Amino acid sequence: MSRNLNDIQVLVTRNIPVPGIDMLRQKGFSVTAWPHERPMTDEELVTEARKHNVILCVSADNIGTDFINTCSHLQMISQFAVGYDNINVPLATKLGIPIGYAPGAMNEATADISFGLMIAVARKFFYMHKGILRGEWTYFKPNAHLGIELNNKTLGIFGLGRIGMAMARRCKGAYDMNIIYCNRNVNAEAEKLYGAKRVSFDELLKQSDVISVHSVMSTETREIFNKDAFSKMKTSSIFINTARGGIHNEKDLVDALKRGTIFGAGLDVTNPEPMQIDNPLLHMENVCVLPHIGSATIEARNEMSRMAAENIIQFFKNGTVPNIVNPEVLKK
Ligand code: 8YV
Repeated sequence: MSRNLNDIQVLVTRNIPVPGIDMLRQKGFSVTAWPHERPMTDEELVTEARKHNVILCVSADNIGTDFINTCSHLQMISQFAVGYDNINVPLATKLGIPIGYAPGAMNEATADISFGLMIAVARKFFYMHKGILRGEWTYFKPNAHLGIELNNKTLGIFGLGRIGMAMARRCKGAYDMNIIYCNRNVNAEAEKLYGAKRVSFDELLKQSDVISVHSVMSTETREIFNKDAFSKMKTSSIFINTARGGIHNEKDLVDALKRGTIFGAGLDVTNPEPMQIDNPLLHMENVCVLPHIGSATIEARNEMSRMAAENIIQFFKNGTVPNIVNPEVLKK
């Protein structure tokens, strides 16, 4: 499917790192990069996408039913992310639109955030820091604000893919944690390298001292961490979510944290995003929240940019997409 690449108009919907944009321009694509820091509105996205053949988009863009039906002329959607729950994949597939994505680019960066949040919650970092700012660092209080230790504890991984593996490696190496996981498939590599054991969702809830979420968000996983799930967890346990905020029910999580159903929570993803500053989670002793920065390293974001560009380049050069969500469209 070799074509004159100058005819291909690519819309980059957000101000992303330059490596991918440079790659596309060097190959001759006509690239329009959204010039503002602020996101495009849904209307602007449709208006601009109509003038282009390809969109290079982010996970905060709404690539749902209305957008895809209106922009069914698109020849490709290239997502600057590993997650693609913002895209109506079945509809794009039905219309024959390939969807590229960027798996692997942010494994280490995101696992660092999961691991960091785990320690931060266990020792109440954020609340303690805010306490200094409030003038509460006064005298030594032997019984105040005690945390918990992680050495030899049980880590339960929900969704053991690439990022979960990077978290397992950290937890095994740093704390010799016992690793259990709940996943659709057996992860033989994790079992061999880290002695990980596959368990049911209920067993994961019951046995884990720390639960770290690394799954995709789907109809199966949406709000799977709800009141019922939290009630099965240990009162001394920590819940970490760096995947998607929709995987937990936030109201049920707040209740569980307030009632002491679980010890604490560390979130890099919330529901909704961004959260309001009066959200109770931001003011609780046992909670650490970050503003969805899992992939926010120079290395990861540059690689995501390169991967998103490479998916477009390969598709228009030879009809293949190195990382594709819906490979069935290429077989047609
Ligand atoms: C990004 C992410 O920050 O890749 C993902 O799925 O959640 C993060 O890496 C963001 O979603 C970029 O589109």
